Amino acid sequence: MFQSNLLAGRVILITGGGTGLGRAMALRLAELGAKMFLVARREGPLAQTAAEIRAAGGQCGHAACDVRDPAAVEASLVAAEQQFGRVDTLINNAAGNFIARTETLSPNAFAAVVGIVLHGTFHCTLALGRRWIAAKQPGTVLNIVTTYAESGSGFVVPSACAKAGVLAMTRSLAVEWARYNIRLNAIAPGPFPTEGAWSRLMPSQEYEEHARNSHPMKRFGRHEELANLAAYLVSDQSAYVNGECVVIDGGLWLRGAGEFNDLVDLPDSLWEAMEQARKRN
Ligand code: HXC
Ligand code: NAP
Repeated sequence: MFQSNLLAGRVILITGGGTGLGRAMALRLAELGAKMFLVARREGPLAQTAAEIRAAGGQCGHAACDVRDPAAVEASLVAAEQQFGRVDTLINNAAGNFIARTETLSPNAFAAVVGIVLHGTFHCTLALGRRWIAAKQPGTVLNIVTTYAESGSGFVVPSACAKAGVLAMTRSLAVEWARYNIRLNAIAPGPFPTEGAWSRLMPSQEYEEHARNSHPMKRFGRHEELANLAAYLVSDQSAYVNGECVVIDGGLWLRGAGEFNDLVDLPDSLWEAMEQARKRN
């Protein structure tokens, strides 16, 4: 789909880049020629993904960093700059989430998720944005949100609030920073199986089956599908796409939105009976 040098010369920092979708994006973007720098709290997954990238012939560094801490974010940017000279692309992918009845949440539970998702995104975006503006250098930011950033969702209220905030940040800065040649976009993924998400959000095998069966395409997303969309959105091929949020969910959120969509479960026999009745009248 892409030329193998699509991202040659680019330096991309991904938060949460050691696991799940962050890892998938890191591997794919490195394959397309970008130098990668990965940050997250745990050293182990970061080192492993970085080693995989290097084994495949790519370049990758990493630093342990809690994105809730602006000083730690600053330190990891300095480490990335020492290794690669500069960072020109940021993917805010780190997240925290869990399902819970909202009335049971403690203040700290809300703060933990909002801290990672909203404050973490702000710290990383500001730290890089300030550098790009001062250096008169173009920059690209891609924020990984969710479809319920638009709609809200019960049982994941801290995440819904935080992701809605990230989407607002994306759209706000897309306009404010366009004059500096800084572009911001978002991806709203539907369900993509990852250890991080599934262990916290899939309460049972039955619920997973239900989620798959009620999906319009009867399947979950594949990591490479999301990674390719990310490659397009951070590349110069999408230079005129700014402030956009691209949904990649196989039509799932629309399935919930359309008033008559539950008719997918209506048996053919009932459709045929209605058709016959209409013809008789
Ligand atoms: C209620 C919970 C809880 C749960 C933690 N807490 N889990 N409350 N239900 N399941 C509460 C704790 O009791 C504590 O409050 C507070 O949250 C902070 O918890 P800690 O474990 O001390 O915090 P921390 O170590 O910072 O961990 C953050 C975390 C954890 C968010 C709680 O799950 C995490 O590290 N997640 C990172 C990875 C992740 O979540 N990946 C999934 C992304 S998927 P008290 O009051 O007791 O101190 C995603 C997909 C969305 O976003 C869409 C899917 C389709
Ligand atoms: P994941 O593997 O759990 O990814 C979350 C990453 O964030 C982890 O690598 C984690 O690493 C890192 N992280 C968490 N807290 C952090 C902190 N304080 N500082 C730095 N890094 C931190 O789950 P995923 O499914 O791949 O999720 C990736 C992104 O996709 C998230 O933004 C998520 O909301 C979004 N998303 C996923 C789905 C899905 O179905 N999978 C759907 C919609 C949206 P450490 O624990 O080592 O810090």
